[in-house]
Amino acid sequence: MKSKTKVSKHSIAVIMGDGIGKEVVPEGIRVLDAAGRRFGFTLKWEMLPWGCDYYLKTGQMMPPDGLEILKTHEAIFLGAIGDPKVPDHVSVWGLLLPIRKEFRQYVNLRPVRQIRGVESPLKARESGGIDFLVVRENNEGEYTNVGGVVYGGTDQEIAVQESVFTRQGVEKVIRFAFELAGKREKRHVSSATKSNALTFTMTFWDRILKRVSGEYPDIRADQYHVDALAAALVLNPERFDVIVASNLFGDILSDLGGAIAGSLGIAPSANVNPEREFPSMFEPVHGSAPDIAGKSIANPVGQILSGAMMLDHLGHSEAARLIETAVEKVMGDNIKTPDLGGKASTQEVGKAVAGLIAKD
Ligand code: NAD
Ligand code: IPM
Ligand code: MN
Repeated sequence: MKSKTKVSKHSIAVIMGDGIGKEVVPEGIRVLDAAGRRFGFTLKWEMLPWGCDYYLKTGQMMPPDGLEILKTHEAIFLGAIGDPKVPDHVSVWGLLLPIRKEFRQYVNLRPVRQIRGVESPLKARESGGIDFLVVRENNEGEYTNVGGVVYGGTDQEIAVQESVFTRQGVEKVIRFAFELAGKREKRHVSSATKSNALTFTMTFWDRILKRVSGEYPDIRADQYHVDALAAALVLNPERFDVIVASNLFGDILSDLGGAIAGSLGIAPSANVNPEREFPSMFEPVHGSAPDIAGKSIANPVGQILSGAMMLDHLGHSEAARLIETAVEKVMGDNIKTPDLGGKASTQEVGKAVAGLIAKD
């Protein structure tokens, strides 16, 4: 990833989106603003009211020039998209997936870290013991949206959904995983495959893995069929360091990762365009959680840590580390939302983290 020289003012597009996105994003902003005051940078937030409410009013998830508007910003800070009143494929293909694709955010980086002070639902897992990264291919594979339906609504109805894997796409994301592993202590890449059943695409993926891994002799590489990998993540999560996976496999493994690390609500993510030709987008792994929306009980930690990943991307790594430490301290003090067994509200967690950053 290209590094960034330190700048003191950043223009950020904010899409709170739907459901708990509207509750957790303000807490992310609260914490990042506190970090900005402390470290001497300013985040200029442009609030964009796009999402399902916008769709219900206008028939579109974002305006026709939405991507042009986003392009004028350095980064995008997103909550979540999805509302029971709008079919999920309409909301997602009207906003989230076009951004990831058009801005060539071909890496979706999803750290799975068991924050100290947060218990894993897995037995005998010491707090802080789980620490791996999911590098998810984010532009193609199973999410290519090529296909169609014929004889719709009849007994002969046929639905076809193609997976498209390109040599460049697969190679870039696998290479990214190896580069990342080279900067970590364990120097270990595990690839998620399913070449026993998916004869063409996944054998292709495996061949590219083998070729790229040959260029990194000092990084250990192995591969698991994704079903076995899912089981191994539950049984031996400490075995993993960097996991590289296709779009769909990475999606599923990162929810699993969040859950074993304590809660889906603590998992952050970065949709990265490593070449920096376009803005990258930072959002938690979770969705809009309509089942708990509007109750002020959503965990804001995934959003806050996505904000820390955004600060890393903008060149403010010291501020990002302080946010992580502050989150750890707040969890250690047992200021937790109900998904982690606590009684604190979304806002209480956000205020506690921001408060530590301000005074610490
Ligand atoms: P979800 O992630 O919204 O929720 C799954 C479960 O986890 C729910 O029980 C929810 O209450 C819980 N949960 C999620 N985030 C939480 C948090 N921060 N704190 C506490 N609990 C939390 O997944 P879903 O139910 O499959 O999807 C709901 C909607 O979100 C759908 O419309 C879906 O398409 C959308 N979605 C959007 C994104 C995104 O915008 N990136 C991601 C995933 C799902
Ligand atoms: C995620 C979400 C999205 C995905 C959905 C909403 C399309 O689950 O960000 O993990 O599958 O990428
Ligand atoms: Mn997902």
